Amino acid sequence: MTSPKIIAVDGPAASGKGTLAAKLARHFGFHFLDTGLLYRAVGYQVRDAIGDRDAAIAAARAFDPAWLTQPELRGDEAARLASQISAIPEVRTALLDFQRRFAAQPPGAVLDGRDIGTVICPDAPAKLYVTADVEVRAQRRLKELQGRGVVSIYAAVLQDLIDRDTRDSARSAAPLKVADGAFVLDTSALNADEVFEAALSWITPRI
Ligand code: CDP
Repeated sequence: MTSPKIIAVDGPAASGKGTLAAKLARHFGFHFLDTGLLYRAVGYQVRDAIGDRDAAIAAARAFDPAWLTQPELRGDEAARLASQISAIPEVRTALLDFQRRFAAQPPGAVLDGRDIGTVICPDAPAKLYVTADVEVRAQRRLKELQGRGVVSIYAAVLQDLIDRDTRDSARSAAPLKVADGAFVLDTSALNADEVFEAALSWITPRI
């Protein structure tokens, strides 16, 4: 049996990992999963009881892929809710099988998130860690929000990213960190095409 062709793409918020992961999936004809959406969906499900740990665990155990199509999941409120419930180990465990089954689909899969190369698919043949300076990421997120017609202030966007980076990196369950063997791609000074080319030349010989 040939091993699954998995591309793991991890990194902090607004690093460009989602855009890159989607492009890679199109290029290779692989399935694509934005795993952040799973945590957003669970967080959104318990938005009225966000401090309630048991409610978050129950929601993660009842996770239904149909939840992923809700337009509200794209917003910053869902991102904040996600970064709170994603620190709960039982929530992460409940979402593990779904992600691993997704990753095992032929002919291959690209998953983007925070712990794909470290926890979900540690044996993935190609792992990327996509990052950029936090100020650059805040500018990108601001532009994206403005493009969607969401009125936003740079300082607030920056603070939100700093808070989420801190929570995601400091938590004990699957913290955000560079996986063993991952290619670290700093996108601070690169445009989307340059990021794609750099990723492609590293991945192609590995899968
Ligand atoms: O697009 P952005 O990076 O802003 O957000 P996202 O990837 O949808 O992730 C939202 C939050 O979900 C993150 O801040 C993490 O706390 C959490 N998350 C996680 O813990 N593990 C993942 N594999 C993906 C997201």
